Amino acid sequence: MNVSLPPPLPADVLERVRALLAEARASGLPEPDAMTLATVGADGSPSSRTVLLKALDARGLCFYTNLESRKGRDLAARPIASVTFYWRSLWKQVHCAGPVERLTAEENDAYWAARPRARQLGAWVSQQSREIDDPRRLDEAMAAAEERFRDRPIPRPDYWGGFRLRPRSLEFWTGREARLHLRERYEVTPEGIWRRFWLFP
Ligand SMILES: Cc1cc2nc3c(=O)[nH]c(=O)nc-3n(C[C@H](O)[C@H](O)[C@H](O)COP(=O)(O)O)c2cc1C
Repeated sequence: MNVSLPPPLPADVLERVRALLAEARASGLPEPDAMTLATVGADGSPSSRTVLLKALDARGLCFYTNLESRKGRDLAARPIASVTFYWRSLWKQVHCAGPVERLTAEENDAYWAARPRARQLGAWVSQQSREIDDPRRLDEAMAAAEERFRDRPIPRPDYWGGFRLRPRSLEFWTGREARLHLRERYEVTPEGIWRRFWLFP
């Protein structure tokens, strides 16, 4: 598995992804920042789920989660992933794949501080991806957490943080009539250069 870090995204590619996100937000589409994140577990089993894109720059795409969740455990065992955005209102899809790195404690703290208090409490309450005997216990746990942190800042749990997916490949898909969709793909070559090409739909 090649998990060496790829070079930064070409500036025009980054700008294009940013422009698509802006267009999706402006179109009124709900959750324009939602992306499907696919991971692979230590035993090779695949899984996917929706997460929210929280930051984007030439290094890649950042999202936050519970590090002990299924995805967190997958990424600890195999630090690779792919994400897919589909914006129905634009009839466009973007997906990319590559190695994944943990965000720094400073990055995690900065984003944690910007989260609403209720979501901070939620992170303390949820043992994400573990079995719960009765979901009604969530409300009791929330009340207990509110009591525990009453009148003081809520610290970031050790098990909560972010990841950055560093794209090694990225594809722009544009829907067209008769399934003659456009697929414009970028991949990092073994020499470490971004190469652009087209695929049949
Ligand atoms: C629109 C939407 C956005 C979501 N955003 C996140 C997110 O940013 N981080 C997260 O951990 N879970 C998020 N979730 C919940 C995940 O899809 C998933 O249920 C949870 O993270 C557990 O996944 P896992 O057991 O595969 O680790 C979101 C779900 C939806 C529907």
